[in-house]
Amino acid sequence: MQLFLLLKFVQVLFCYNIPMKQILKFPENFLWGAASASYQVEGGIYNNDWAEASRLGKVPSAGESTDHYNRYAEDFDLAKSLGHNAHRISIEWSRIEPEEGKFDLAEIEHYKKVLTAMHERGLKSMVTLWHFTIPVWFSDMGGFANRRSSEIFARYAQFVTKHLHEYADMFDTMNEPMVFSSNGYRNGQWPPFKKNYFAFLRVIKNLIRSHNLAYSKIKKEIPQINLGVVKNNMHFSSDWKPWNWVAAKFMRWFWNRRFLNAVHKKCDHIGLNYYFHSHLGRSLGLPKNDFGWDFDPSGLYHVLIDLKRYKKPVYVTEAGIADRADSMRPKYIRGLVLWAHNALQKGLDLRGFMYWSFADNFEWAAGYTQEFGMVHIEPKTLKRIPRESAYVYKTICESNALTIE
Ligand code: BGC
Repeated sequence: MQLFLLLKFVQVLFCYNIPMKQILKFPENFLWGAASASYQVEGGIYNNDWAEASRLGKVPSAGESTDHYNRYAEDFDLAKSLGHNAHRISIEWSRIEPEEGKFDLAEIEHYKKVLTAMHERGLKSMVTLWHFTIPVWFSDMGGFANRRSSEIFARYAQFVTKHLHEYADMFDTMNEPMVFSSNGYRNGQWPPFKKNYFAFLRVIKNLIRSHNLAYSKIKKEIPQINLGVVKNNMHFSSDWKPWNWVAAKFMRWFWNRRFLNAVHKKCDHIGLNYYFHSHLGRSLGLPKNDFGWDFDPSGLYHVLIDLKRYKKPVYVTEAGIADRADSMRPKYIRGLVLWAHNALQKGLDLRGFMYWSFADNFEWAAGYTQEFGMVHIEPKTLKRIPRESAYVYKTICESNALTIE
């Protein structure tokens, strides 16, 4: 890589036309795919806290979404044709346990079919047991602020893994615990719309307990299961001002490491979601995506390297960009893959990369206004239309490499 950059420099400096091509190979069996989550794509979910909040007009409604619940086979056919060999989904808790302690085996059968469909197409499956939405009955009793929440979560997680472990390749207990607790209990933007710092800290504590308890119980029953957690980490940087430097250092500990420090011993792998470079101090003037978030694929490298301390296999379980016009996404994807490769070169045990998201979907409080998909969903017909970036990614997936010219 260094030699390549040096040659490139010489080329630019002296206007030499040195034909240069570098092929950055990924390890054999590297997983390439895309990610989604139940409430964001399935459609027809009415028994969780987000559906309830939409009935009260507090958040947009997900409605039928992309109808993935019925169209999963079509989606997996498309994923396969786009060169993917893996796919990440989540299980909708409110479908499996619609009432406290009452489990719906018909919904388990549904997810068995979904996972079998993936398997038949050669897609390795990554299953998140809980991705943000909770059943109404659980929300009514305080959700993860309730002292009993870890037992309740572990019971659900045990039930799902008992029935599905033979159908999936790996599992994660939960998605982005810090984002969930911060948006729901500190910023008041997501259900249950609280702005209470103590509740925020309590929920984090309960989520740590929930993961650890679920992991211990599940591993006791199914020792061979591959079970981890999905964590959103940000790249915090600062200008030269001492208080910004201290604040960035604090955030690297508080946001990125605190949760993982408490659960990594009960993780077979770590899933990493990367979206943000948060720079404290004078703006770096980075380009913005449709959501107003900074465009900086290199931040992925920093958050990946920071995970080396846990000595676990790592998967990028999400990284992506809101870009309706698809004008930034091809460059962003290639940038992410380049920086993921750099992390591998530096000795990180990186095993896979899931782009967020396979198709446009329900983007939480932003509803359907933001489009993260490499596949565009035509709103009226729900027709799936791959964007140019899907083919850029396909070349990477199929060659298991990034080619730089
Ligand atoms: C979440 C996704 C979300 C994406 C983009 C991640 O925080 O896991 O559910 O759609 O970011 O905002």
